[in-house]
Amino acid sequence: MAAYNVTEHFYDVVVVGAGGAGLRATMGMAAAGLKTACISKVFPTRSHTVAAQGGISASLGNMGEDKWQWHMYDTVKGSDWLGDQDAIEYMCREAVPAVIELEHFGVPFSRTEEGKIYQRAFGGMTKEFGKSPAQRTCAAADRTGHAMLHTLYQQSLKYDTEFFIEYFALDLIMDDEGACRGVMAWNLADGSIHRFRAHTVVLATGGYGRAYFSCTSAHTCTGDGGGMVLRAGLPLQDMEFVQFHPTGIYGAGCLITEGARGEGGYLVNSAGERFMERYAPSAKDLASRDVVSRAMTMEIREGRGVGARKDHIYLHLDHLEPAVLEERLPGISESARIFSGVDVTKQPIPVLPTVHYNMGGIPTNYHGEVVTLKDGNPDSIVPGLMAIGEAACVSVHGANRLGSNSLIDLVVFGRAAAIRAAKVVEKGAKHRPLSNAGDDALARLDKFRNAKGGSSTAVIRDKMQRTMQNNCAVYRTGDVLEEGVKLIDQVHTMMPDIGVTDRGLVWNSDLVETLELDNLIGQAVVTMHGAANRKESRGAHAREDYADRDDENWMKHTLAWLGEKGNVTIDYRPVHTYTLTNEIQYIEPKKRVY
Ligand code: SIN
Repeated sequence: MAAYNVTEHFYDVVVVGAGGAGLRATMGMAAAGLKTACISKVFPTRSHTVAAQGGISASLGNMGEDKWQWHMYDTVKGSDWLGDQDAIEYMCREAVPAVIELEHFGVPFSRTEEGKIYQRAFGGMTKEFGKSPAQRTCAAADRTGHAMLHTLYQQSLKYDTEFFIEYFALDLIMDDEGACRGVMAWNLADGSIHRFRAHTVVLATGGYGRAYFSCTSAHTCTGDGGGMVLRAGLPLQDMEFVQFHPTGIYGAGCLITEGARGEGGYLVNSAGERFMERYAPSAKDLASRDVVSRAMTMEIREGRGVGARKDHIYLHLDHLEPAVLEERLPGISESARIFSGVDVTKQPIPVLPTVHYNMGGIPTNYHGEVVTLKDGNPDSIVPGLMAIGEAACVSVHGANRLGSNSLIDLVVFGRAAAIRAAKVVEKGAKHRPLSNAGDDALARLDKFRNAKGGSSTAVIRDKMQRTMQNNCAVYRTGDVLEEGVKLIDQVHTMMPDIGVTDRGLVWNSDLVETLELDNLIGQAVVTMHGAANRKESRGAHAREDYADRDDENWMKHTLAWLGEKGNVTIDYRPVHTYTLTNEIQYIEPKKRVY
């Protein structure tokens, strides 16, 4: 192995990732007096939170009566009863103060006539436990994530935090007892290697949308935290639940916010029919995302798609007042023009369900602490390790996330992790000496730097992405998934034959993409295996051979471990069927109709 000159750092906490969750955790931890570092592979305001459009959910009640209990009911129903109800209660209750806090931090929300935060309708959000649509999604036009991310970064600069920007996290430092003691990182700009010792590492590394061929996720969404967790011998949870957003721009994949339908937009097939009325008579175009994506797929399959190949659907906004489009949806009006050549005031936008979000991730409790199944205890805490945001599976989204519940998840659980760390981490405590800390990470780096095999990173990535797109999509069957398992395992076996051309450590994008691919492929493998194993339909996991939800056998979270030889081990842990306070009772499962 090459001799690396490693720079040592000692912190109370190290946050990996500077999106909404990472920044909210970083500022909370620094504010609590913990010596805090934040490592990010991109400049913080380039994190993928910047791309969130439509808004952030909270039952503020600015646009009609609302209650957090109604928000909780909708979220549990949206999750198809796979969400943990203690965590969902926590999120929906804390959503209100979290959004007020964002307002006070300076997020430039759109306003009502009275000057209150503007709230729009979003899919699956209702009043009185499903009776009528609620306007619950707080919006800054259609650039809410952008507004939040910039505000949170500005706020976090007020505190005594050290940012390590354009540092790529390589691997966790785990001790012999299974506790996390830090993280290894590579400074992309000057090629130096860094060992960050920390009493707690917080993974806020986002989703792994780039395991798929077509997604709304940025190229940076490679699930680096999930990859590190698998290599640390820990499981990922509920990975088979991958959300397809109904309205990605056809051919380009860019997001057209659900807020477009919240403002009155609607979908039509080649017959000009508003087909959602057949699939979701009450909520129609604002049914939850899994329902709308399935309906669109059915319309296309049955020959009612639009365009020369009849392979997509139209989203109409052209009936809306141009002033409304300009004020509330300026960003997507521009995206539609650039990416599909459409003037939204005159023409429909061609759209297609597109991979958008991972409900699965690193299992945690509602404090953000990573949990695993150990000695029969499904809630066993992994000391020194937290995960938040899309990287984590709390699980508040269960089998299907409601639109605008991701931004609230980021800030509520970013804050929760900071509150917990302030309680459990002893400020300035000494770091235990560890022999060989980070050696495995350096050996892995070395392996890829010296990889001289015959398959390029781009070729292996392309095979992975096409396999996931073809074999683990909106609708699934046993045969297609079993084939997917074989194919994705084959792609995985190509990794030892990878070839990396640039061996340097300064701005080596070939090496970065290889390390990212290594993170992605592990998650692609456990996603496919988890999907093949789950023999029911629930939320985003829609199996044609097991069309119904099966609560008796399958109301449980999948846990998937990846062995060093690529073998997958699957086990399950129970869904939390209890609430935290007596302000709401456990919401009993029932048939999910919209
Ligand atoms: C959207 O605006 O549709 C995306 C926001 C989200 O996924 O919650």
